Amino acid sequence: MKEEVRIIGTEEHDEDTWQLSLRPRYFKEYIGQKKAKENLEIFIEAAKKRGDALDHVLLYGPPGLGKTTLATIIANEMDVALRVTSGPAIERPGDLAALLTNLNEGDVFFIDEIHRLSHSVEEVLYTAMEDYAIDILIGKGPSARSMRYELPKFTLVGATTKAGALAGPLRDRFGIVSRLEYYNEAELKVIVERSAEILNMPIESEGASEIARRSRGTPRIANRLLKRVRDVAEVKGDGTITRSIADEALRRLDIDQLGLDLTDRRLLRSIIDIYRGGPVGLDTLAAQVSEERETIEDLYEPYLMQLGLLARTSRGRIATPLAYKHLGIPLPEM
Ligand code: ADE
Repeated sequence: MKEEVRIIGTEEHDEDTWQLSLRPRYFKEYIGQKKAKENLEIFIEAAKKRGDALDHVLLYGPPGLGKTTLATIIANEMDVALRVTSGPAIERPGDLAALLTNLNEGDVFFIDEIHRLSHSVEEVLYTAMEDYAIDILIGKGPSARSMRYELPKFTLVGATTKAGALAGPLRDRFGIVSRLEYYNEAELKVIVERSAEILNMPIESEGASEIARRSRGTPRIANRLLKRVRDVAEVKGDGTITRSIADEALRRLDIDQLGLDLTDRRLLRSIIDIYRGGPVGLDTLAAQVSEERETIEDLYEPYLMQLGLLARTSRGRIATPLAYKHLGIPLPEM
């Protein structure tokens, strides 16, 4: 057993390789996101029956919930190629044109962080999505003319952490819009057990539950924590991931019973200690905890809000009474 674990340990130095080997390739291996999954399965089956490309798909939700994984599965289920890029990587309309003209009939074209496309690139994308064509300007000045270039019928899969930041006309051009939700503990437990099995790690049911419960509803975090818990199991235990080994590893990582890390708690503590529970503006809070505004908004806040520890109001962020309770701070007298 030890021997096998060690071999995997040398391969998985690269975080991406690790995640890639754990990533489900087909819906039958995919756990959770019941609603998004069931709908996509129907739309894919229907498109395949018609021999048509799947309509464009927008996936939105907090980071780490499997948007890239779903794009891969869509391509695999449709039995077509997947092309991957991201909003910030496409700087000019010409960059997008180059990517689009290289697509084949039915291909899945995945744009991560699609809300970060520039306006001029978005304009090209509108025509591509709607008419499967791009207009290319040839020549300069008065003799310049526009030539239409036909594209193969492709499927755009866009992913974003902020559906609200997407331009209306872009959002409207997606025929399928799926919101990804945080995973519940039972789903994450199955994911942790599946990952442990793929990676040949002995794990007890209660060990898997402990990791699942403290993974912020996010498979990417669950898989990352599993790796660290495995380290502790090998050094401090006999290699088996038990509940007490998981608990020790997670305590070492400063991950508390709700799965909050140091930054989560620092955010809540700042609101409570410095701004008397709030409201406090996002920029003030970001400066206070030395984090990017976007990181707080996209990564930290959604989970704190889901747990009911933080609320967004028109005047800023507030810590809820539950946050006081969780941190063991008495509520101020009214
Ligand atoms: N690994 C990461 N996300 C997963 C999911 N949703 N199902 C199965 N394995 C996963």
